[in-house]
Amino acid sequence: MTVKHDGGTRTNHSELLSWVDEMAAMCTPDSIYWCDGSAEEYDRLCEELVQAGVYTRLNPELRPNSFLARSHPSDVARVENRTFMCHRNKDDAGPTNNWMDPDEMKTVLTGSFSGCMRGRTMYVIPFSMGPIGSPIAQIGIQITDSAYVVTNQHIMTRVSQKVLDTLGDDGAYVKCLHSVGAPLEPGQQDVPWPCESEIDNKFISHFPDTREIWSYGSGYGGNALLGKKCLALRIASNMAHEEGWLAEHMLILGLKAPSGERTYVAGAFPSACGKTNLAMVLPPEGLKDWSVTTVGDDIAWIKPNADGSLRAINPEYGFFGVAPGTSYQSNPMAMDTLKANCIYTNVALTDEGDVWWEGMDGEPPAHAIDWKGEDWTPDMDHPAAHPNSRFTAPAAQCPTIDDHWEDPEGVPISAFLFGGRLSKTFPLVYEAFDWNHGVFLAASMGSEATAAAIGQAAIRRDPFAMLPFAGYNMGDYWQHWVDMGKKGLKLPRIFRVNWFRKDEHGKFIWPGFGENMRVLEWVADRVSGKVGAVESPFGLVPRYGDINWKGLDFSQQNFATLTEIGRDEGLAEARDLKDYFAQFGDRLPETVEAERRALEARMEDSPEMWRSDAA
Ligand code: OXD
Ligand code: MN
Repeated sequence: MTVKHDGGTRTNHSELLSWVDEMAAMCTPDSIYWCDGSAEEYDRLCEELVQAGVYTRLNPELRPNSFLARSHPSDVARVENRTFMCHRNKDDAGPTNNWMDPDEMKTVLTGSFSGCMRGRTMYVIPFSMGPIGSPIAQIGIQITDSAYVVTNQHIMTRVSQKVLDTLGDDGAYVKCLHSVGAPLEPGQQDVPWPCESEIDNKFISHFPDTREIWSYGSGYGGNALLGKKCLALRIASNMAHEEGWLAEHMLILGLKAPSGERTYVAGAFPSACGKTNLAMVLPPEGLKDWSVTTVGDDIAWIKPNADGSLRAINPEYGFFGVAPGTSYQSNPMAMDTLKANCIYTNVALTDEGDVWWEGMDGEPPAHAIDWKGEDWTPDMDHPAAHPNSRFTAPAAQCPTIDDHWEDPEGVPISAFLFGGRLSKTFPLVYEAFDWNHGVFLAASMGSEATAAAIGQAAIRRDPFAMLPFAGYNMGDYWQHWVDMGKKGLKLPRIFRVNWFRKDEHGKFIWPGFGENMRVLEWVADRVSGKVGAVESPFGLVPRYGDINWKGLDFSQQNFATLTEIGRDEGLAEARDLKDYFAQFGDRLPETVEAERRALEARMEDSPEMWRSDAA
């Protein structure tokens, strides 16, 4: 290998050094640069990206030290149909993952990666998912030919020489290889967002046995920032399965009661359910004596500690959130997080040099440059920001960030929330009867996909909100959760929530995200045994009087509609799940199917319309 190694970091890890050499021999970059994660490095790379026309520096008075990037229009989201779990055995990937034999995939990808970094710099990024040195953290080394990725990883992960020091001469790490897949011929002018434009040539491949990720052809989000979905969920779920912990697609928040008592909650929600908003929710009028703190907005790694409690860390260092819909109205703490030091991708640029997206407070700008770089005015029939446009923001800037968010021991989790977007049948909140029932509630969750026929709504299942992220057979993943319940641990309570129930006029019954704190208070009080509930066929439901309504005018009648359960709908749910579960064959845990049968039996015995206060 004759290419010079540049950059600030040093390691004597000989296996790592030979892996980097081997990857360089395959990818043939012009140079190799080892990242040190310093502010100087960040500033220099951002400036280079500005010079190259990749980043636009935003108005320093409005958004200090912040940048805007526009992706290629073909490269705007995670590509789930090009995401592969390359287990040796196809059944270990299961029916919800794409699969290819690992050797075959390596052969295909060696073809793609050969010479793919020609004319480019190969960056080597040593990063830690979780506080460096935490017993719950993991180290990754990402190789990439994208400086955009390097600067985003500076925000999303902990990049530092300390990572290499912690790794020592022979520590274990996850090998993360990434290329945008756009080599440059001598003299060829680069484009602002190089990528492979042919979708079938993109590959987001995971090799769980060897703890490797090979991602080719995309520069966007979870396809390219490999610490996030690829490492922290798909590879880590395999580690967690083997080692007896949990790698989950969950926010983590802290609740502080007026008494000072603290309860930490982890919650899984599919996309478009307001997960980031919930992670940063502010107590509404009437509950101002409570506070909510943010540990993480997307991923939780949860390990049993010596006393049997489950301790969680947020493995990430920043938020990679969807911009549209974020406003002072929906999420003031996110807006405050975004004031400086952020990277924006595919949002609109105002004439003042600020960012804008649909759903931001106030009037739309009279003129802007849209995410494709074209003039935009509000009368146009397309949005100015791409619906999946993003902000990359340092978590430490969040005003509600929890004082233990970097605690290497993690925070103790007392409750799990599982939610979906469901317009009928499913109550605002209900608690599982026990752990196995909770696993069933999480395995059966999903959001509604409204069918063409009026009034027909099918549930698109997204078990544990892990459908695109569980790195092994979904049936085995559920069994792993069942098994975690058998170890004598201090198990958190499990709840299902649904903020999206509608009345017969199609209007949301629940007044909005700002009031979710009332449900969280009930959850915290259930954990500490301070409040009651009543048994329903779905689980334990609060009575009207069990919820704190201070500061909100919400009638008992409304609450009854929000929590009622129709027998026919409940039965339909139990029967629909039978077909859904069948796809997992002999990997379906017997306990999960038994819980389904128990639900069916309870529904059969239920009144035509079950109501909490009628009990
Ligand atoms: C995300 C997702 O981007 O879940 O966090 O899709
Ligand atoms: Mn997510």
